[in-house]
Amino acid sequence: MRNTITVMNAKGGVGKSTLVLALAETLSAFHGKRVLVVDADAQSSISHMLMPQQQLTVLQDEGQTLVDFFVASVLKDEPALWRQYVVTGVSDVDDARSIDLIPCDTNLTLLEREISKSDREANLRRAINQLLSEARMAYDFVFIDSAPGLSVVTESWLREADFHLTPTRPDYISTRGLAFLRKFRQRNPEMGFGELLGTIINMKDPQAPEDEQYDHWLRGDPENRCFRQAMLRVTPLQSAAYFSPRPRSYWAKYPGATGDQVRSLTQELLARANELQRR
Ligand SMILES: Nc1ncnc2c1ncn2[C@@H]1O[C@H](COP(=O)(O)OP(=O)(O)O)[C@@H](O)[C@H]1O
Ligand SMILES: [Mg+2]
Repeated sequence: MRNTITVMNAKGGVGKSTLVLALAETLSAFHGKRVLVVDADAQSSISHMLMPQQQLTVLQDEGQTLVDFFVASVLKDEPALWRQYVVTGVSDVDDARSIDLIPCDTNLTLLEREISKSDREANLRRAINQLLSEARMAYDFVFIDSAPGLSVVTESWLREADFHLTPTRPDYISTRGLAFLRKFRQRNPEMGFGELLGTIINMKDPQAPEDEQYDHWLRGDPENRCFRQAMLRVTPLQSAAYFSPRPRSYWAKYPGATGDQVRSLTQELLARANELQRR
């Protein structure tokens, strides 16, 4: 099954983590899908969005994050027992009960240096490959929330996952991030690279003519495979980032038109994934 998706834009702040959150919660609450979220960003935004700060700090202190998994499997050549690092049943949405998470830690950047310094990139690819090939069977969808930029870790996820999904803001800098990724993808095709599942236009301001122009321009290039549904810049999506200590309903977190947009985007994603599955 091809169901592993790296969410990536070389530019930060385009909504990668927010969209991973909204897609995972909608796939779980509305479609009964089992979802694994891998936090592959040292800033750990998606970990913060999916669990209480206190719980995350304990996991980080106890060495239960993606970083610790890589230390064992890549630096120490131990068997890649990724399941030990999975936190089950995360998310503050009461109806989204099938989301698991491998959290992250700021030490990811140090680990990346260590991997490069000791020439262990091949071990890294192998560990990621093993994790993904087993997770593919255990989950309906696996999302890897990546860091901006193109570190060896991000490159490995992009090459090993089945797909990549690229959120972008309808502005110049973010679209440069897209062009950069496309160029990078074409550089070493023999090394493998996930297929582009699509580009999501995010944080669009319906009042701004510039946003409309960029939206139009992005859609004009079929290589971008833009999703029909653009995500508007709205307060509920901004607030979604804050983990609520009390479980909340899906409708409270994604109210009204925002919920409509998130569900329509999720439907498109499901349709595309199904279509590509058959090929
Ligand atoms: N559609 C949206 N409307 C309003 N705010 C958004 C939207 N998408 C993301 N945000 C906010 O923008 C900021 C950056 O989003 P984030 O998901 O962290 O981006 P990235 O993961 O690409 O760095 C966060 O404060 C987030 O809450
Ligand atoms: Mg992020």
